[in-house]
Amino acid sequence: MIIGLTNQKGGAGKTTVSGHLAYWLTKRGTVIVVDADAQASSTNWMKDLELPCKTMIDPDDLFDELPLLAEQYDWVVVDGPGSLSETTKAILSRCDLALVPCKPAGLDMHSTSKMLRILRQAKELRSGAPIVGLFLNQAKKGTVLLKDATRALSEKNTGFPLLKTIIYDLQVIADAPGQGTSVWGMSGSTAKRAAQEFDSLFTEALQIEGAL
Ligand SMILES: Nc1ncnc2c1ncn2[C@@H]1O[C@H](COP(=O)(O)OP(=O)(O)O)[C@@H](O)[C@H]1O
Ligand SMILES: [Mg+2]
Repeated sequence: MIIGLTNQKGGAGKTTVSGHLAYWLTKRGTVIVVDADAQASSTNWMKDLELPCKTMIDPDDLFDELPLLAEQYDWVVVDGPGSLSETTKAILSRCDLALVPCKPAGLDMHSTSKMLRILRQAKELRSGAPIVGLFLNQAKKGTVLLKDATRALSEKNTGFPLLKTIIYDLQVIADAPGQGTSVWGMSGSTAKRAAQEFDSLFTEALQIEGAL
C-alpha cells in the first residue's frame, strides 16, 4: 500500500508524521520512505532510524516508480512537498491513501480549499482512489483555534473524513527527528502520550482504508 502525506502548506507536519508512520509500520511489514520534498528532511532522519528511504522529487519518476516500490515493499510512505506542484499530483495519482495533516494555527481556508480541489480531482480521475483522511496536527487543547479548525475541516464542509484522533503540540514530537529517533524511542510520560496519539491516528487511518 502506498500512503502519501500531502498538504501544500509547509509546516503542517508531513515530514514529522510520515517518519513516525513509517516507523510504526515496521511492526506490520516491510517499509520504504519516499522523500518527495526537495528539502530532504526525511532522508537524514530515516538514516538515523535505519529505514530505507529514497529521495524522489521528479513527478515522472514518482509516477513510474511508486507502483514498482509497492511491489517490493508492503508499505510505501511518501513524504510530500510543501507545494501544490506536479510532484503532489503525481503522489495523488499513485497513492492508495492520502493523509492530510492540518495545523489549526494558521489554517488558511483559501489554500486548504485548493488542496481539497486537487484531492477531489484525483478521486474523480481514478474513480474514487485515493482514500483521503484529513487530521489535525500540532493542536493546542481547549483553544478556539482548535474548535474553529474542527468545524472548518468537518466532513460536512470538506467532503472528506476528518480523523477523530488529534495530534497535539508536544515538544517530544518536535524533538524526535533531531535526536535521530521517534517518540517510541524516547522516555517520559509525554513521549508515551505522543506514542499513544500516533498509534491511535495510524490505526484509525488504516481503518478508513480497510487495511486493518
Ligand atoms: N505535533 C507536533 N508537536 C510539536 N511540534 C510539531 C508537531 N508536528 C510538527 N511539529 C513541528 O513543526 C514543524 C513543521 O513540521 P514538519 O513535519 O516539518 O512539516 P512539513 O513537513 O509539513 O513542512 C517542525 O519543526 C516539527 O518539529
Ligand atoms: Mg516536510
